[in-house]
Amino acid sequence: METRVTKLLGIEYPIIQGGMAWVANANLAANVSKAGGIGFIGAANAPGEWVRSEIRKAREITDKPVGVNIMLLSEHIDEVAQVVVEEKVSVVSTGAGNPGKYMKMWKDAGIKVMPVVASVALAKLMERAGADMVIAEGMESGGHIGEQTTMTLVPQVADAVSIPVVAAGGIADARGFCAAFMLGAEAVQMGTRFVVAKESDVHQLYKDRIIAARDIDSVVTGRSTGHPVRSLRNEMTRQYLNMEKENVSFEELEHLTLGALRKAVVDGDVKMGTVMAGQIAGMVKKEQTCKEIITEIMDDAHKVFNSVKF
Ligand SMILES: Cc1cc2nc3c(=O)[nH]c(=O)nc-3n(C[C@H](O)[C@H](O)[C@H](O)COP(=O)(O)O)c2cc1C
Repeated sequence: METRVTKLLGIEYPIIQGGMAWVANANLAANVSKAGGIGFIGAANAPGEWVRSEIRKAREITDKPVGVNIMLLSEHIDEVAQVVVEEKVSVVSTGAGNPGKYMKMWKDAGIKVMPVVASVALAKLMERAGADMVIAEGMESGGHIGEQTTMTLVPQVADAVSIPVVAAGGIADARGFCAAFMLGAEAVQMGTRFVVAKESDVHQLYKDRIIAARDIDSVVTGRSTGHPVRSLRNEMTRQYLNMEKENVSFEELEHLTLGALRKAVVDGDVKMGTVMAGQIAGMVKKEQTCKEIITEIMDDAHKVFNSVKF
């Protein structure tokens, strides 16, 4: 399947595994790329040397392109921004802000840049700054979110910019995939479904929690702090939401979630850890290989598309 996104990225299928802090390591990202989509290593707050070593590990698994997702608020941001240039990474996605400062350096190095945006205004700003594509991410997503839904954000972004748009948030099967194209996207980015991929190294209890989730099991914490995060309901989110109602200080809220994603992903503490996952978790019911996930979506997409009679 060919779109402007598959052409720009040099991939077979317009399916992207979004960068995910603690979750998206070399193994997951490389296996998504090997299956014909493209995986992104999640740099999150990791030091540059960790990112370099994951890029190199990914290259041992596949010679297909693998991207790096750069979190712009990282304390190691300058170092990570440089590592992707040194390692000749072909594409970076960016989250948590405006990558303007690094744009020239990356573009000069021939790196394609695709920022995650949660509004039309940011999408336009990114296009003007030289982004090759934008990822329009709706608030159905797992992790840090904006306030617009995928259904409303994607067509408005697609109308506002002329660079290609990738849809993210709430997509986990061929129906979501086809819908994204109808909204004007030229690829999809998925997170939650890939968390439970066989090649994902997250703790089994984390995967089990996603597999057991119902449609209403995700909640948003942190709206009061201006940094909303979607994760699955547990003891931590219950305490957090109560504390938000009681207007406790930002520091106390921070204290509750400090290291909490790592706790869930690495230690399997799904009670007090942050089990980041999107609203679509309720539909993710089994562990499959990256290849099975991508093949199933692409095969079913033809049936879904042909089932609509206008
Ligand atoms: C566990 C988890 C961690 C995430 N971490 C990041 C991150 O570090 N950077 C980022 O840009 N997006 C992050 N995301 C968002 C994903 O890249 C992706 O856009 C999102 O999951 C898509 O929505 P979905 O979960 O409904 O598939 C994360 C998502 C999850 C589920």
